[in-house]
Amino acid sequence: MPSSDSESMRKVRKYIMTMPSLPTTVAKVLEVCNNPKTSPVDLDRVISLDPVLMGKVLKLINSAYYGLQNQVTSLVRAIIMLGVNTVKNLALSTAVLDRLADKAGFRALNMEGFWRHSLCVGVVAKMLAKKKGVGTQRLDEFFAAGLLHDIGKIPMNNVLSDEYVRAMGLADRERIPLFLAEKRSMDLDHAEAGAMIGEAWHLDGPIADAIRFHHEVSQYEGKSEDIVLAIAVADYYASREGIGFSGCLYPDKLPPDIYERLGVPKAWLEEIDAAVAAEIEKASVFLKLRA
Ligand SMILES: [Fe+2]
Ligand SMILES: [Fe+2]
Repeated sequence: MPSSDSESMRKVRKYIMTMPSLPTTVAKVLEVCNNPKTSPVDLDRVISLDPVLMGKVLKLINSAYYGLQNQVTSLVRAIIMLGVNTVKNLALSTAVLDRLADKAGFRALNMEGFWRHSLCVGVVAKMLAKKKGVGTQRLDEFFAAGLLHDIGKIPMNNVLSDEYVRAMGLADRERIPLFLAEKRSMDLDHAEAGAMIGEAWHLDGPIADAIRFHHEVSQYEGKSEDIVLAIAVADYYASREGIGFSGCLYPDKLPPDIYERLGVPKAWLEEIDAAVAAEIEKASVFLKLRA
């Protein structure tokens, strides 16, 4: 008898509830950044309360990921240079990775492959955003959404590891996208599990929407269509190119009008391989910062 739907959901929910929540500083960062009037000084005040987080954010800002000319040692100066929204997304990404990048969380999937896939989706989403002319303040939101889009797989392959291996087998045998195989065998897919994490951690806005809708872009009706579409395209690119591996050999077919809606020509994706490899290399600093 296959595990009943409510059973899978209950197990995953229970596991998510036992995961340590985001540090209070990060919750506070999200809260102050929700206010459009927040100034660099306000954000600096919050992040400075947590020296570890502050150190990590400064490390990222001074890493090859940004490639700034000069070393920046003052956080407030970094926030003025890069913008409140950028620094918020850096803080959020490092905090989530601290909570989730742990090897013990991976039973069915290979951790290195999973994070490489996620990095690839992050950098390609950011490149798509740049290509379509999104403002610099929002570029790292695309990156963070890509980095985090599949986090729902982590609790699932931890607490439902046997079922997860079976779902991967089903996807391979029937040549279907993994999220459909998850849904069929566990009545829960990783986008839904990701939404549960988002709820538990009070994530909302574009990143939460991308986590929830990256496999169901046609059903999305919110305000962040550009991010949701970019993640779907970047996810397809990562799977097609075999960069990293997140368990899915047969990605979902994208709606034919997706490139038009996104405002980036499909042919552009054929030209970016070398740039993607270089960007992944730079962005891998995110994984090296783990506690
Ligand atoms: Fe996914
Ligand atoms: Fe993915």
